Amino acid sequence: MLRIDTVVENIEVGSASVDIIKQAARIIKSGGLVAFPTETVYGLGANALDEAACAKIYEAKGRPGDNPLIVHINEGFELVRLAREVPPGAQALMGAFSPGPLTVILPARPGIFAHGYGDTVAVRLPGNMAARLLIHHAGVPIAAPSANLSGSPSPTTAAHVLADLDGRVDMVLDGGACKHGMESTVVDFTDTVPKILRPGAITQEMIANVIGKVEIAGCGEAAKSPGMKYRHYAPSAKMTLVIGNPASVSVKILELLGQSDAKKPVILVPTGDKALYGEAPIMLLGRRIEEVTANIYAALRRIDELGHDEVFVQGVVESGLGLAVMNRLRKAAGNNVIIV
Ligand code: TXA
Ligand code: MG
Repeated sequence: MLRIDTVVENIEVGSASVDIIKQAARIIKSGGLVAFPTETVYGLGANALDEAACAKIYEAKGRPGDNPLIVHINEGFELVRLAREVPPGAQALMGAFSPGPLTVILPARPGIFAHGYGDTVAVRLPGNMAARLLIHHAGVPIAAPSANLSGSPSPTTAAHVLADLDGRVDMVLDGGACKHGMESTVVDFTDTVPKILRPGAITQEMIANVIGKVEIAGCGEAAKSPGMKYRHYAPSAKMTLVIGNPASVSVKILELLGQSDAKKPVILVPTGDKALYGEAPIMLLGRRIEEVTANIYAALRRIDELGHDEVFVQGVVESGLGLAVMNRLRKAAGNNVIIV
């Protein structure tokens, strides 16, 4: 397996890196699988127009066949090749936030297969330079889910990809750590009112500022995005998420820790609240919500790597970017959530 060890998301994308990206593009064109960096998480890419290549994605990830793929495109790509229509709201939103961490669900053209769901298609124009060069040189749209085994946390480094998929992909492009560290915001434009199916770095507030009314899908409805109904992002350790103001949360977590018979428990804590936990074993997530977001998947993986058998997580405020973080933490905790 070939790898790039340089950070290619750089203005000065060196010619060596471009050569390797061209090699990756050839693999995509010939029906292979390439894991590549994006600004959200690493993707596991295949030619979106090649049904057999897309089938390999499902096999490599162990992904349920009813969970459709996002199609990654480049600037200048004619959306009408994939979509029956592009509602004005979707156009405005893409105008504002693409390239970037945004996916829109559009009515699909007939005949759009593996990556289509019912008669809809998910489209995203990533911002990461390596991803865009890859799509450009491949000359085809690239279908890509997150490059993890189904059920485990999304990969935010090439090492995470290899930990899950080594031997199952033809190539991994190493572009360093992902900027956002959280998957794109998915907005459905196939209903009367646009709906956020998966919160992400493009927040509800940012979307409302551009298109006015936007709803957030409730738990039941989230099944409209099939991927949201599965337990996800979960460490093997038993996980409890505690929500409330930090002082009360820490009291509750320390109480639970005292009652726990785990051999190697750990607490995930935003750095600013570290003093609340005294000598208890903690793992710090970073100060600002952007840092917590970027670190959360690596932390969930680290829990298992370090052999922790139980984890308590201090929830964050559930607005803005915090909504996306809590959406993933609730899933990781399998709804084992305590509100204080
Ligand atoms: O940031 C991202 O979106 C990353 C990078 C690689 O682009 N990709 C990603 O893909 O997170 P994946 O497959 O792990 O998550 C895509 C989500 C799933 O919940 C899937 O069910 C949903 O989007 N989805 C895809 N196509 C859909 C469709 N046509 N209708 C509704 N939901 C769809
Ligand atoms: Mg995923």
